[in-house]
Amino acid sequence: MTDSALQTMGQQFGRRSWAEPWKIKMVEPIRLTSREERERALKEAGYNSFLLRSEDVYIDLLTDSGTSAMSDRQWAGIMMGDEAYAGSRNFYHLEEAVQTYYGYRHVVPTHQGRGAEHLISQTEIESGQYVPGNMYFTTTRLHQELAGGAFVDVIIDEAHDPSSQHPFKGDVDLDKLESLIKRVGAEKIAYVSLAGTVNMAGGQPVSMANVRALRELCDRYDIRVYLDATRMVENAFFIQEREEGYADKSIAAILKEFCGHTDGAWMSAKKDNLVNIGGWLAVNDYDLFDRLRNMVVIYEGLHTYGGMAGRDMEALAIGITEAVQDDHVRSRVGQVLYLGDLLINWEIPIVRPVGGHGIFLDAKCFYPHIPQDQFPAQVLTAQLYLDSGVRGMERGIVSAGRDPKTGDHRYPALELTRLAIPRRVYTQAHMDVVAEGIKAAYDAREQARGLKMVYEPKYLRFFQARFEPIA
Ligand SMILES: Cc1ncc(COP(=O)(O)O)c(C=O)c1O
Repeated sequence: MTDSALQTMGQQFGRRSWAEPWKIKMVEPIRLTSREERERALKEAGYNSFLLRSEDVYIDLLTDSGTSAMSDRQWAGIMMGDEAYAGSRNFYHLEEAVQTYYGYRHVVPTHQGRGAEHLISQTEIESGQYVPGNMYFTTTRLHQELAGGAFVDVIIDEAHDPSSQHPFKGDVDLDKLESLIKRVGAEKIAYVSLAGTVNMAGGQPVSMANVRALRELCDRYDIRVYLDATRMVENAFFIQEREEGYADKSIAAILKEFCGHTDGAWMSAKKDNLVNIGGWLAVNDYDLFDRLRNMVVIYEGLHTYGGMAGRDMEALAIGITEAVQDDHVRSRVGQVLYLGDLLINWEIPIVRPVGGHGIFLDAKCFYPHIPQDQFPAQVLTAQLYLDSGVRGMERGIVSAGRDPKTGDHRYPALELTRLAIPRRVYTQAHMDVVAEGIKAAYDAREQARGLKMVYEPKYLRFFQARFEPIA
């Protein structure tokens, strides 16, 4: 960006210096723990970071979902909650914010992302149809399967290669998509499920050129494109940074242009939109909206609150506006990059390029001696917690779950430990501590041993599964 008002004072004079565009007004103490305490806590949690108590965690990078710090304006908005059952003014504020920044015509509020996924899947998928997409996401795919659909991965091959430096690893492989359409017939495609950025690939973006070409292809076959807009603001940042012709466009303008190539979107507002709870679904087609608005009252709540309190919707409406500010996004992604650069300099294997919302450690490279069915990324997540009290999350074979037809584990090419950075929560010093903890786990990699799964829930097993070390 050339606008000097958006540069830090140092940058205006050509210096590297960079800082967050906010200062801290309220703090929450975090607890230091001993190695013995962490060993006990991890055992009690069945070696699953989702089952740890947050009080036993020092730096919590489990997720960037619902963990952001709200601004003073958002907190002020909380006090402006209109808790009417129907027609809350906060809903109209939210509706306007989605229309303004994402550009869709009709808005349905939901309690969080998976509430929206449920509604769109039930409404738009007929049993036996296919749902092609740029890599699966856990809850998204499950809702598609529960609606009778079969997800088909049509992301470019580079997305499955942690070391590929492709600038837009989230791109859809249009040849893969078109051959699927030709093989099964366009009427068998429910819609294209497009995510920007792609969480499971390491927070990797989709280019504007790709979504434009996708739109053209889908128009030829009369297929709709729905966007998982959960981290679409971060995607817009990467387009601004990497794609020709976008360096001088604002994040907000890029976001709206991108969404304009799609027919609608679902949103986990707990990420980009800077709130602790909330979601929405937005579409252009009135008939579809009408069906969604009818369904939301069954599963979420009335169509003017969808499971959120009025105050939640107000914080969300304000969060949407804050989320698209260039200086905010630059500082958010910049912090992730800072951590990534530290690790890259130490030659620690991570997914490259560094993504928008976190660092993804390549557990297959950490532990070539641990077979995938002994859960290397689960082991690495546990080791990191043991060493430094840093909590991450497995994004490998455990998250991939089982094939509903064969019942076998799915074996994803990517076996990753994700360290997701909450927005506006931690400082650079925290990132230094995290980096050193990862380095210690890397240095001790040869001693690590595999895990066996001793409890496996039926759905989304990564949340609640329990493990024990293999003797
Ligand atoms: C890409 C993506 N889509 C959908 C969801 C589901 O959203 P929620 O957790 O709000 O239900 C998430 C949450 O982790 C996500 O990362």
